[in-house]
Order: sequence, then C-alpha cells, then structure tokens
Amino acid sequence: MERMVEMSSTLQQQRILENLSDAVLCFDKSKVLSYINPAGEILLGVSSRQVQGQSVDKIIHCVKGTLIKEIERALESGVSLVERNLELVSAGEQCVTVDCSITPIYEGNRPNAILLELQHVDRHLQISRESQLIQQQTASKVLMKGLAHEIKNPLGGLRGAAQLLEQELEDDALKEYTQIIIEEADRLKNLMDRMLGPNALPKNKQLNIHGVLERVRLVVQAELPAGVQILRDYDPSIPDVYADKDQLIQAFLNIARNAAQAVGEQGEIKIRTRIGRKITIGSRQNRLVAKIDIIDNGPGVSEGMQEQVFYPMVTGRAEGTGLGLSISQSIINRYDGLIEYTREGGVTLFSVYLPLETGHE
Ligand SMILES: Nc1ncnc2c1ncn2[C@@H]1O[C@H](COP(=O)(O)OP(=O)(O)O)[C@@H](O)[C@H]1O
Ligand SMILES: [Mg+2]
Repeated sequence: MERMVEMSSTLQQQRILENLSDAVLCFDKSKVLSYINPAGEILLGVSSRQVQGQSVDKIIHCVKGTLIKEIERALESGVSLVERNLELVSAGEQCVTVDCSITPIYEGNRPNAILLELQHVDRHLQISRESQLIQQQTASKVLMKGLAHEIKNPLGGLRGAAQLLEQELEDDALKEYTQIIIEEADRLKNLMDRMLGPNALPKNKQLNIHGVLERVRLVVQAELPAGVQILRDYDPSIPDVYADKDQLIQAFLNIARNAAQAVGEQGEIKIRTRIGRKITIGSRQNRLVAKIDIIDNGPGVSEGMQEQVFYPMVTGRAEGTGLGLSISQSIINRYDGLIEYTREGGVTLFSVYLPLETGHE
C-alpha cells in the first residue's frame, strides 16, 4: 500500500514537471544532462533523446559564453544563483531571452547535481502586452459599434427626407442642394459600414493560407511602382486554416497596402509564413498557430502613434481613413488570432497570428 502511494506521487511529480511552462533541466556533477522537460525541449529546440547524456555547453548556447562557470560556481559554493536576461540561441537560430536559476541539489551534505530553470522573459512581456492589446481592442470596438449605429439610424431619416424634399422642388437649381445632402449621407453611411467591419456572415472553409497571400501579393504588386519588390518566404508545411477567404484577403490586403505606402518609390516588402508552437494569445495557449509576417523596410510607424495604430480613425496619412488596421485586427480577432506591430533590426513587422486548431490546450 505504502509503495502504491509512493509510486503515484512520483508519477504525479513527473506529470507536473512535464506540464510546467518553464524549462527544467537537470545536470549531474560532471555537467552532463540527466533530465529535460518538454518545455525545455521546446525552448531549446532539442529532443530529450538527442541531448540525454550530453554536456551543458553542447545543449545551451548563450550569445555570450556558456553557463559552465555559473554551474561550477553553484556546485562549489552550494548556493543558488539567478542570471537575469540571459540571451540564448535556440535551435532555430533564434535569440531568446530567459531568466535562469541554477540550484544545487544536495546528496548528504554535498551538492551532486544541478537544477536549471529557464523562464522565457520575452514571452511574459508579450503575454501582458497582448492581453492589454485585446482589452483595448474590445473596448474600442464596443464604443465604435455603438457610435456607428447611433449615426447610421438618423442618417436614413435624413436621406429619406432629402429625397421627399427633392420630389417637391420645382426649381431644378435647388435640387443641387438636396443632392449634396443625399450624397453626403451616403458617404457617411459608407464610412460607418466600413467602421463596423464586414457584416456578411463569414463563409468559413478549410483553406491554404498561401492561396490568400498569393492573391494579396498579386493585387499589391500591380499597384506598386517599379522600384518596389515583394519577396516571399513561405513555409509550405503550414496546415490549412478554417476561415473566410475574402475576409482574410481583406485583412492582409490592408496590411500589405500600408507596407507599400510606407516604402514609397524604392524598397522591399516581404511576406513570410511560419508555424508557431505554444503561442499564447490573450489568455489562451494555442498548440499550433500560423504566423504570417508582412515586413517592409520603410521608416516604421511614427513615434507616438505606435500604441494606437489598431484603433479606428488613427492615421498618419493626409488622405488616410485610419480604418485599415482596425478592420484587419477585428477580422483576425474573429478567428481568435491577433495582429502585432514590431520594429526589429531596422524593418517594420506586422505579424498576424492565426490559431490552426480550435481545440485549445
Ligand atoms: N507598414 C507601416 N509602416 C509605417 N507606418 C504604418 C505602417 N502600417 C500602418 N502605418 C501607420 O498606421 C496608420 C494607420 O493605418 P491604417 O489603419 O491602415 O489607416 P490608413 O492607411 O487609412 O492611414 C497609417 O496611416 C500609418 O501612419
Ligand atoms: Mg491603410
């Protein structure tokens, strides 16, 4: 009986380790790996089988040096260490920032193993940023919807009255004025409709995201001056997404057109697709997402506007409406996805995250 209890508690501990979102690695006193949990495998882009029995400098690659000295120090002193904002290079050659705690594990009165916990810092920043973004979006959407409806209703009355008036007018010259009322009412209604976003019911289908992106590329390419190129960097293995093709085209078109406007007469736009794993959007962790980046080498969103670009009516262009990105964001939100703006290494990125499986973890 006692043995049963003991076994189930070991099993439970194993399960806890396997489901932790932080990476946990264990090294023996000669700095050889004895355990890595699944979060560790994902963070470092390795499989447990492949790195079992390898030494720490083969598994963890820091941008500056290795962790060997710190681990030796912890083993010698028997005291835990914390390294903050450590930059690691993961298997995909991507740089990730982690907080790392190094804890000696004692056997008797001497440390004979090392526990390493790595916590993804970027992801924490990102999660809170995204949650904030989604909250802002929701608040502004509710406000805009309410406002648009309030404006649309009396507009119908205004237009109808102008039409009645026009029928009664005998002097044709005066009809010019009623026409102005009618046209302006139509223009305002049109604007409100666009602000409310697409209202047709979505016709969702399984579709290949590259079909959508190719259409967008061709449309934008036709509008571009000769000095601007659109490059493609697609990962063809991305599974189909379940969405409305026309809506997705609209969402990506708005972003790509902005990129075209940002680069002007000379420049480069790139459409890149990748698979992302375990990506948190808002408070939901998605096992698999498609990440689509529209990258341009223009100047980026001007300082002071970066926080607001996804709000309706926010524009940096004299002839802009400021509706493009807010419509794109609301379309992508419908599929539980998110658009993010970042500036990285001198280029502008609008990254679209689209969950690929609706069964969330
Ligand atoms: N790729 C980009 N590079 C620089 N600025 C951008 C980019 N995309 C959007 N912006 C800025 O965000 C603003 C809002 O974009 P959007 O919502 O599409 O409205 P609009 O294009 O009508 O201005 C733009 O006016 C521009 O200032
Ligand atoms: Mg635009």
